[in-house]
Amino acid sequence: MTREIRRVLVTGGAGFIGSHICDLLAEAGYEVIILDNLSTGTLDNVKHLLKRDNVKFVRGDILDMDCLMRVMKNIDAVLHQAAQLEIATAVNDPITDLRVNVEGTINVLEAMRRCGVKRMIFASSAAVYGEPVYVPQDEDHPKNPNWQYGASKLACEHYLKVYHNLYGIRSVALRYGIVYGPREWYGRVLTVFIKRVVLENKPPVIFGDGRQTRDFVHVRDVARACKLVLEQDDYECEVYNVSSGRETSILDLARLVIEASGVDFEPVFEDVKEGEYSKLVGVWRKPKELRRMWLDIARITKRYGWRPEISLRDGIREEIEWIKENPERWAVKPRI
Ligand SMILES: NC(=O)c1ccc[n+]([C@@H]2O[C@H](COP(=O)([O-])OP(=O)(O)OC[C@H]3O[C@@H](n4cnc5c(N)ncnc54)[C@H](O)[C@@H]3O)[C@@H](O)[C@H]2O)c1
Repeated sequence: MTREIRRVLVTGGAGFIGSHICDLLAEAGYEVIILDNLSTGTLDNVKHLLKRDNVKFVRGDILDMDCLMRVMKNIDAVLHQAAQLEIATAVNDPITDLRVNVEGTINVLEAMRRCGVKRMIFASSAAVYGEPVYVPQDEDHPKNPNWQYGASKLACEHYLKVYHNLYGIRSVALRYGIVYGPREWYGRVLTVFIKRVVLENKPPVIFGDGRQTRDFVHVRDVARACKLVLEQDDYECEVYNVSSGRETSILDLARLVIEASGVDFEPVFEDVKEGEYSKLVGVWRKPKELRRMWLDIARITKRYGWRPEISLRDGIREEIEWIKENPERWAVKPRI
């Protein structure tokens, strides 16, 4: 903990990633204020923290300026994780995506300006890049988001620059890859594989040929990156990729899940058209799905010494153990 930073606000702190950030910061002795409207997050993610004296939960919305002004009092830094991140919502209801992500972020920045809060760490996304024109994608890679969600995250990054130039609010935007680990919400490829194999004892279903790739990063590695940046505290207005720096094919991912589960399955291939639903697993295949995602993490490694520590193999085992103990968490409609 630095002397200047004692009280932190974590928006979206009851969510998957936010709750892991709160774990680390609470453990390190910060006073942690969680602001969350529980639209996709849950108190289950933070109930262990609410027993502590240094953690406070406020149910509230980043679209509610009065509420933001109340929680922003005497805050030293904001870790802004709250967002709308469902691609189906972004595609079918882009105004909601824009409101929560862009208007919500402007509200947080405005409340910071009015209350004199000068530091923000922002959850951005690899979705700002879109399909790679080269790999690995570094921070200067062209920004051609496939979906409105990537466009809204990119707009937020621009607002961070404006608030830095105009008001001296210092910020770091961390562009996460595909974050996974305990408390992950159900709907994305790894969760669909694990649910099929571990909870339903059926082979994983791969959409297409399985050669599409993603860059997976463990949620505790992401939380550690946030804490490191918070504590270094010598940034102005910067952007970093936070991921594994490796690409994993979806076929290899399916094999890792099979291996970690100790079963003897072969993956099944299903030719689900983009924008249609799988007949086997009932999950929607996104339109304009990325063929590859592989992020370059040299910049954050050089600047902060951060690199991921948890291997995908170990992380998958851990997520499997967690869901076995909490199967009700994925007994829900998939978020897509
Ligand atoms: N999960 C990933 O792989 C990933 C990848 C890139 C970026 N991100 C970003 O990381 C952040 C956290 O994502 P996550 O996976 O933990 O998702 P999540 O849905 O678990 O967390 C988002 C949290 O924000 C809260 N929230 C949503 N709208 C709100 C509002 N209007 N006011 C207050 N709270 C609100 C939700 O209730 C939830 O607790 C998001 O900003 C997301 O865009 C996530």
